[in-house]
Amino acid sequence: GADREDPKNEQLEAFRAHPAQDLLTTDQGVRIDDTDNSLRVGERGPTLLEDFQAREKLTHFDHERIPERVVHARGSAAYGYFEAYASLADLTCADFLSEAGLRTPVFVRFSTVQGPRGSADTVRDVRGFATKFYTREGNYDLVGNNMPVFFIQDAIKFPDFVHAVKPEPHNEMPTGGTAHDTFWDFCSLQPESTHMLMWAMSDRAIPRSLRMMQGFGVHTFRFVTADGRGTFVKFHWRPKLGVASQVWDEAQITAGKDPDFHRRDLWEAIEGGDYPEWELGVQLVAEQDETGFDFDILDATKLIPEEEVPVRVIGRMVLDRNPENFFAETEQAAFHTANVVPGIDFSNDPLLQGRNFSYLDTQLIRLGGPNFSQLPVNRPIADVNHNHRDGYGQQVIHSGTSYAPNSLNGDNPHQAGQDRQPGVFQHYQQRVDGDTIRKRSGSFSDHYSQATLFWNSMADWEKQHIVQAFRFELGKVENRAIRKRMVDNLTHVDHGLASAVAAGIGVDVPEQTGTANHGRSSAALSQQNLLPG
Ligand code: HEM
Repeated sequence: GADREDPKNEQLEAFRAHPAQDLLTTDQGVRIDDTDNSLRVGERGPTLLEDFQAREKLTHFDHERIPERVVHARGSAAYGYFEAYASLADLTCADFLSEAGLRTPVFVRFSTVQGPRGSADTVRDVRGFATKFYTREGNYDLVGNNMPVFFIQDAIKFPDFVHAVKPEPHNEMPTGGTAHDTFWDFCSLQPESTHMLMWAMSDRAIPRSLRMMQGFGVHTFRFVTADGRGTFVKFHWRPKLGVASQVWDEAQITAGKDPDFHRRDLWEAIEGGDYPEWELGVQLVAEQDETGFDFDILDATKLIPEEEVPVRVIGRMVLDRNPENFFAETEQAAFHTANVVPGIDFSNDPLLQGRNFSYLDTQLIRLGGPNFSQLPVNRPIADVNHNHRDGYGQQVIHSGTSYAPNSLNGDNPHQAGQDRQPGVFQHYQQRVDGDTIRKRSGSFSDHYSQATLFWNSMADWEKQHIVQAFRFELGKVENRAIRKRMVDNLTHVDHGLASAVAAGIGVDVPEQTGTANHGRSSAALSQQNLLPG
């Protein structure tokens, strides 16, 4: 894989360390005679402050760690390429989608969400699926998950959600997974999480391999053409190997026997030349059809059913090269939903709007200042030309002035201007009108229909797994009121589901409400002996 022509790989070559000689040196390139003994007075005497070699070695080591990501801390990544199947010029002016067969280098990082950097791979969790496309017109990041919806509708809830899902504040447990009180307390009080919970309790949350996961951009985005026409778009990655999961017992055993199970699987597949591959698909919705669904396409707790809008496959992605240095590449990679290129724009999804603030903000502290886009893994292959200057870790020796307009520097660099020009990003021109309010749209208020749809689409054995997952997870919740409240929420999804969960965790089986009952599934569950009686 590394042999194919790849402009990103060529760029990285300039940053790889190839020592010309094999004697140890200091940071300053001074050769040293002894790296095992510090400078001391006599054989048994105190160590001297003058020993700059020992001081440098210890100091650098003392500063090796950086903060882990505030979420998605554990991840594994690989390089590869995306190949477009056809020109999409009628839908978007995105250069990387402009030509059949055009290849664009990518870097993809898969992750769990909850656990710290050193946690096990095969826990019950959402998986991140973040792709950086190094396009000729700048970097485009598709920062998605392996599930098509999310727990919350508005980014302002994200700190609350993450504080609840992370380990308990007093004892830092559990380090991996979601079986604890604060997570279920939050979800039971925040019914918008119900649809995503159904996915998270399904087998989707315990993938067999990172190579066997779907990916989703989750939000509705926009394609924009060269003449400024917009189309709503949802992104889908589909693994060539198909979607496969572990069963829960298997996941728990692998977590114990090989906490790196997914990382090892991805690494070894690529080392062995068995390159994982995905197809990229899109669901397209015309601007005039924006409000034609019985949910809001700006609501990230909803998917667009494929029966209503089919997925059109537009390209494929192959991962064929492992990184050489985990820290330099995988750990320092910085993905950001706002890294878009001409032809791709946002929608008004309030979760996406907040993410567009949060990623750059967190990376400023995680990666130590404003110059992390110069790190090898983050560098665009497109030319970079701006008046940003200085800051910690500046790698570029800029020359000349750094302001515009500017008569001294031949007005260089200068802005492109408002006339539409190929390869220049222009925000989609959208008509917006309204009062400033803090209020969730009424179109975001149905929290159960798609959760029910998901439940009803499951085979009986998948339903069993979901019931068992709820029982396992809620069975670890100490506070009885939380268990009860969660079961009550589930009655709005399916009464049979709620009853089956309740019976397994010592909560009173709820009364038949008549609201959202689905006889077929209850019957199916009682056949599997998961229903009481
Ligand atoms: C990290 C996906 C919602 C803040 C990540 C990563 C992924 C991801 C895949 C890991 C990126 C990597 O591999 O480095 C998603 C998806 C979301 C979502 C699909 C919902 C649809 C949010 C929201 C916020 C947020 C609402 C905040 C308002 C963050 C932060 C990081 C992160 C701060 C760490 C980034 C870093 O340190 O580089 N997210 N996320 N996410 N996400 Fe999200």
